[in-house]
Amino acid sequence: MEVFSQAGGEMLSRWGHYMAGVTWIGLLYYFNFVQAPSFAEFEAAARTEALTKLVPRALWWFKFAAMLTLATGIMILGFQENLSGGEYFKTAPGISISTGILLALVMFGNVFRVILPNQKKVIASAQAVAAGGPADPAAPEASRRALLASRTNAFFSIPMLWFMGVTSHLAPAYAIHPEGARRGIYWLITLALIVVLELNGTGRLGGTAPGGTRAYLDDHVKSIVAGFVLWAVFLVMWEVLF
Ligand code: HEM
Repeated sequence: MEVFSQAGGEMLSRWGHYMAGVTWIGLLYYFNFVQAPSFAEFEAAARTEALTKLVPRALWWFKFAAMLTLATGIMILGFQENLSGGEYFKTAPGISISTGILLALVMFGNVFRVILPNQKKVIASAQAVAAGGPADPAAPEASRRALLASRTNAFFSIPMLWFMGVTSHLAPAYAIHPEGARRGIYWLITLALIVVLELNGTGRLGGTAPGGTRAYLDDHVKSIVAGFVLWAVFLVMWEVLF
């Protein structure tokens, strides 16, 4: 049976990968585009109830979907024949998937290092309030940090999904082995962009206040627009360099 072959293993991993990925990113979009703006309009009691009953369930699926997306992504790589010798990563598809994975790993880090720990504080505070106790004074700042990281992930997801899909379906049309110097320039700009945007987006560069260098994270519509701008920057780099 074909499914019990290397190609079958790769296909099963891909299937699991985009199912898990859709669940992760679908929930990310729900948090950003639906939940956060709705919570801003909720009465305090309704928000407390949602934080204690709805959000923990959504975060459970979010967390395990992110873990499964990473695991199945690594499985696809494991099943691929074309990785042998590392030459693959010098080709356009190899550069494409490396960029997509880099963005996805930064997003994964934001989930586990920023969003989940801060949401835990916010939920614990809501639970204390629901039980008749005082709110945690640190909860608003925790909520702000989680929101910024979440909008940063929504922003990164736009080029990330481009590279996931493009790897097998368009990247092979670009120069197969872009010359070393061009790859060097590409990685230099890409790494600098991702590091600066991540530090800025998570408040490690200049705090968490709205506006200024974080204006594109002030609301979810701006984050979506900024995501397409970042995608366009990558597209220009690909057209010019490869
Ligand atoms: C967490 C780290 C991730 C890793 C290590 C990873 C890895 C991979 C790999 C190796 C491929 C195969 C590329 C190819 O050769 O065609 C791939 C494709 C893909 N990935 Fe990811 N990925 C990650 C995150 C995500 C996320 C968050 C999504 C969100 C939906 C996603 C969606 C996809 C899709 C739709 C494809 C294209 C499948 C196809 O064209 O057959 N990935 N990914």
